[in-house]
Amino acid sequence: MADAVQALLRPLACAHDWVERVLEPGDRAVDATAGNGYDTLFLARLAGPAGHVHAFDVQAAALEETGRRLKREGCEERVSLHACSHARMGDVVPAGVKAVMFNLGYLPGGDHAVKTVKEETLPALQAAAGLLLPGGLLTVMCYPGHEGGREECEAVAALLASLPLPQWRVVRLDSANGSPDAPFLMAALRVPCK
Ligand SMILES: C[S@@+](CC[C@H](N)C(=O)[O-])C[C@H]1O[C@@H](n2cnc3c(N)ncnc32)[C@H](O)[C@@H]1O
Repeated sequence: MADAVQALLRPLACAHDWVERVLEPGDRAVDATAGNGYDTLFLARLAGPAGHVHAFDVQAAALEETGRRLKREGCEERVSLHACSHARMGDVVPAGVKAVMFNLGYLPGGDHAVKTVKEETLPALQAAAGLLLPGGLLTVMCYPGHEGGREECEAVAALLASLPLPQWRVVRLDSANGSPDAPFLMAALRVPCK
């Protein structure tokens, strides 16, 4: 039981939980950092055969691994893999998406020198905010612990904090008693029209 509660408090588990509440079969979604494809597959399952997911990564190895994972699970036809920076999201993805997930940093088990940087992340977040439908959710897993990570995370937090009320509701989930280097989650809901 205690393990289950601890798992629930993990920021990435919270991101999945929140996305699960907004993304429905037939919706469109974006994985801004495909990596090993876990989040892409998660989004593809929720979007279902009538939905579609756009996934971005700058590393061929990441997209190959994501493609293999999707194929194994029979989800490859509902996903477009984009071998380019998420900064190009606005050129590639049509408006009207229900969820966008960012999982920043570097590919676990890959080249740690290839990592997200604020110069690409900030324009990508702006594009993502422009693509979201009312009721749509943007989540960002932030990792301040690696070199350059803190600067990127602070820039992300400032950008999301600047989204205006009442059109946006922005939250931050971090460890109140842990290391300042601990990962944290930010999420921005585009408030549905009344
Ligand atoms: C923490 S991993 C993502 C994990 C992934 N979501 C998963 O489920 O396995 C971060 C990924 O971001 C990618 N990345 C770095 N810069 C990027 C950029 N400008 N655009 C898109 N992806 C980028 C890296 O190549 C890496 O694969």
